[in-house]
Amino acid sequence: MTDKRIIIAIDGYSSSGKSTMARRLASATGYRYIDSGAMYRAVTLYALDHGLIGADGNPDTAAVVAALPDIHIDFVVQPDGSQHTMLNGEDVETEIRRLRVSNAVSPVSAIPEVRHALVAMQQSLGEGRGIVMDGRDIGTVVFPDAELKIFVDASAETRAQRRFKEMLDKGAQVSYEDVLANVVHRDHIDSTRAESPLRRADDAIALDNSDMSLEEQDAWLMQRFKEACGD
Ligand code: DC
Repeated sequence: MTDKRIIIAIDGYSSSGKSTMARRLASATGYRYIDSGAMYRAVTLYALDHGLIGADGNPDTAAVVAALPDIHIDFVVQPDGSQHTMLNGEDVETEIRRLRVSNAVSPVSAIPEVRHALVAMQQSLGEGRGIVMDGRDIGTVVFPDAELKIFVDASAETRAQRRFKEMLDKGAQVSYEDVLANVVHRDHIDSTRAESPLRRADDAIALDNSDMSLEEQDAWLMQRFKEACGD
């Protein structure tokens, strides 16, 4: 394999399997994996825990923006190779995946100042290249010069079924209908917000993985990776 280290941007709708794909590709290539959604989730958790989100689910934008200098996000690699998200030194990996965070994250991630702060962090994480980052705007805004851009899609029902199963496996008490409603609602907010809405970059390769096994997906990705490296 080539020594050239590239940036791989994987974007797509929520629960499209982006993070599984990005994690597996990072491990196959020896690249670092960064889950940009975890960063928006960490800011949202901070806002929830500090009373910055109203009963109507809307954030107090000015208060969230004022709190940004107090929010420090890190990733710590675990002995099994997985990464946990740290918020001000505390491991919040489990907490940020809960439905209360999923339900509040889209309006928080629509705040331009939140996006500017996190995009700057994401860009600095990619300085040495050799990174796989997944999110909504990685190929369009964070790394428009990424050598490999993938845009993942799958139907809302397929994605809700996956997220529902994941949550049940983790012992969460949720209904499929609630998970589907969250997926549809987030799709709408993520793709219609004014600031860097979710859209496919013109040079991104589209992938609908609804009917693909993980192995088929891995092989497909590895092929795209080799092409992007010029092998
Ligand atoms: O990938 P995820 O579902 O964990 O992302 C959580 C939320 O964060 C998602 O609803 C939209 C937002 N997000 C974003 O706006 N930009 C990104 N690069 C990643 C996530």
